[in-house]
Amino acid sequence: AEGMLADGPLKGRHVLVTSGPTHEPIDPVRYIANRSSGAQGTAIARALLAAGAQVTFVTGPADAARPMGAQVIEVETAQQMRDAALGALPADAAVFAAAVADWHVVGAGDSKIKKDGDRLPVLEFAENPDILAEVSQMGAGRPGLVVGFAAETDDVIANATAKRLRKGCDWIVANDVSPDTGIMGGAENAVTLISEEGEEAWARMGKDAVAARLVARLAEALG
Ligand code: CTP
Ligand code: CA
Repeated sequence: AEGMLADGPLKGRHVLVTSGPTHEPIDPVRYIANRSSGAQGTAIARALLAAGAQVTFVTGPADAARPMGAQVIEVETAQQMRDAALGALPADAAVFAAAVADWHVVGAGDSKIKKDGDRLPVLEFAENPDILAEVSQMGAGRPGLVVGFAAETDDVIANATAKRLRKGCDWIVANDVSPDTGIMGGAENAVTLISEEGEEAWARMGKDAVAARLVARLAEALG
């Protein structure tokens, strides 16, 4: 409700946040998914709300609590997330923190695949829509600031820098999610903010602190 909005630097601004994993059905009882707790996305949404923004929070099936005060849209698949995200526009800024499955299973239907002797199932995949790229590259109606994430295990900065250019977003928040970092599923994050101006490595800190700092930068950029 509008009366609930906090007073702050983002008062009157609408920000879209995607968060969590997507689930892509194989059949009615099975799916493929990305690992994502949704913790960083929820923290960002909360920081935006605390700064006075109106937040639309499009989330896949994540463990993390939903940000109270946001308009929460629950989705399952990448296609549903895309439709919800586009439907939430216009927005002054958009932060794509979701771990979207890159592929869906072709022909996933209403019938459960049964074990069949020695015959193993073969899954055929097709690529999912790239929501970040689509929103970054839209002409009229593009949010003024589009922020993507790049969770990488190798050549983090090079991969993330290339990703920013390829997708056309303004900022990329890059992080190293190699298993030995403990970042996936943990309370902390160590990110590098990559923009046209270059890259800025932030010290490892709590996901809430990363969110607060990102939102402060976002408010500054929106002016
Ligand atoms: N993203 C998206 N839609 C997709 C895939 C990714 O919106 N179908 C967004 C993510 O939310 C994230 C950014 O794009 O903000 C980067 O996601 P990532 O998986 O790192 O990029 P990909 O282009 O899918 O490359 P990769 O092969 O490394 O997975
Ligand atoms: Ca991907």
